Amino acid sequence: MAKQYILPPISLAERKDYSFRVRAWNETYAHATGKSRKCFVLTFGCQQNEADSEKIAGMAEEMGYEITATPEEADLIMVNTCAIREHAEKKALSIIGQYKHIRAKNPDLIIGVCGCMTAQDHRREELKMKYPYVTFTLGTASLHHFPKVLWDVIEQKRRFITTESEEDFTKTVAECAPIRRESGYRAWVSIMYGCNNFCSYCIVPYCRGRERSRAKEDIIREVRELVEAGYREITLLGQNVNSYGKGSDCDFADLVAELDTIEGDWWLSFMTSHPKDASRKLIDVMAAGKHIARRFHLPLQSGNDRVLKAMNRHYDMAKYLDTVTYMREKMPDVVITSDIIVGFPGETEEEFGDTLKALETVRFDMLYSFIYSPRKGTPAAEMEQVPDVVKGNRFDRLMATQNAIAAEKNLPMEGKTVRVLCDGESKGNPEVYSGRTEGGKIVFFPGIPDMTGKFISVRIDRTEAFALWGETAE
Ligand code: SAH
Ligand code: SF4
Ligand code: F3S
Repeated sequence: MAKQYILPPISLAERKDYSFRVRAWNETYAHATGKSRKCFVLTFGCQQNEADSEKIAGMAEEMGYEITATPEEADLIMVNTCAIREHAEKKALSIIGQYKHIRAKNPDLIIGVCGCMTAQDHRREELKMKYPYVTFTLGTASLHHFPKVLWDVIEQKRRFITTESEEDFTKTVAECAPIRRESGYRAWVSIMYGCNNFCSYCIVPYCRGRERSRAKEDIIREVRELVEAGYREITLLGQNVNSYGKGSDCDFADLVAELDTIEGDWWLSFMTSHPKDASRKLIDVMAAGKHIARRFHLPLQSGNDRVLKAMNRHYDMAKYLDTVTYMREKMPDVVITSDIIVGFPGETEEEFGDTLKALETVRFDMLYSFIYSPRKGTPAAEMEQVPDVVKGNRFDRLMATQNAIAAEKNLPMEGKTVRVLCDGESKGNPEVYSGRTEGGKIVFFPGIPDMTGKFISVRIDRTEAFALWGETAE
């Protein structure tokens, strides 16, 4: 492995100073040419990454870049990568590969790669050796180094394949960077970073470091400002939000209860909760809440206790069902969604059958299903693997089972009027608008531009497994 370039610590004042240097450089260019330099940000992966990209775009704007949606016209391309499954990494590498052609036309183009993929030694090495047109990398905990590294690239005209320091992994990035929000009515608010759970299949703890929580006051201030600015849905983000504030006097349920007191017409949601510590206290807070969306994403992963143990999940089916039962007792209308992995190493046909049974027992509203993908450096990657054909077949059966359940669960919505946060024109048909219910279900209805970003009443007249259709109502 080649020598590592570990980023030295940087203060907030230093970050700003470098940001202004890049800005001055960009302004000189704009005065001379009459056009601004542009930055394109591409995001893969989860909501946490989307939230990080809003910080990357925020810093780019602060540095005088205009944000563009077209990579071909960019002077700076930032690729925020994901490493959760092989497919996500392959896709990012393939797109980075295509940027070679843009770089050939514009030799001054700067390409930065950040996110979970670049937190792995072997991927950084690969980027360094096989992608010479990638100018720099930044890890997930060192986003706030972006202006300094960019300035070094500009000034020293060399590449920087960087590694974050131990110190960076103890910090929360949120306070360090301006945010350029994609939406004017839905906002992400990161409340914690990292993960301590080390599920045996998962790369996240290796890419994002140990858990650390933001200060409660900072979160409350950010949410209050967003509500006052007219944001309608605010989603608190963390790999395991239930671990928020561990060891402090404010746990996650306390935080949610406090946020719920913020006046206004808005929904508060959060993701993701780990079943091992989704507490009754949190469920009680939700049930009593005014703004808290009655929606719970509770990844089950497998319905078999032996597999759950091998996954290092620290709960069994009995515990999971107990939580679901309590949730439904307190909130009969709660929407429960989940993640399932099929083909975890050693999963037998019978054990997979337990997962199908679990779907029938719990009856999730929506399910995100994944084919197990071995991740280098995780314990499960070293275990006896299930053949691809078997995994594919189980995946198809899981989907078929879930689709039938979701369709049945949506059917009683027909004839009912639901409150929907409107997202504007749907993809593919400008006359049909889309929005989401409090439970996160997608709804299609005829709309007008004025509805975007507002709460709308929709009377549902048709449902399917993945969507609801209706007409706007008073
Ligand atoms: N922190 C969240 C989820 C993060 S990853 C949690 O613990 O619930 C999102 C989902 O990706 C996981 O819930 C899991 O279902 C899936 N996943 C993670 N690693 C995977 C792997 N190696 N192969 C396939 N799916 C995986
Ligand atoms: Fe991965 Fe498990 Fe942490 Fe979720 S809780 S991020 S699945 S290690
Ligand atoms: Fe992917 Fe990293 Fe999120 S691996 S799913 S971007 S935490």
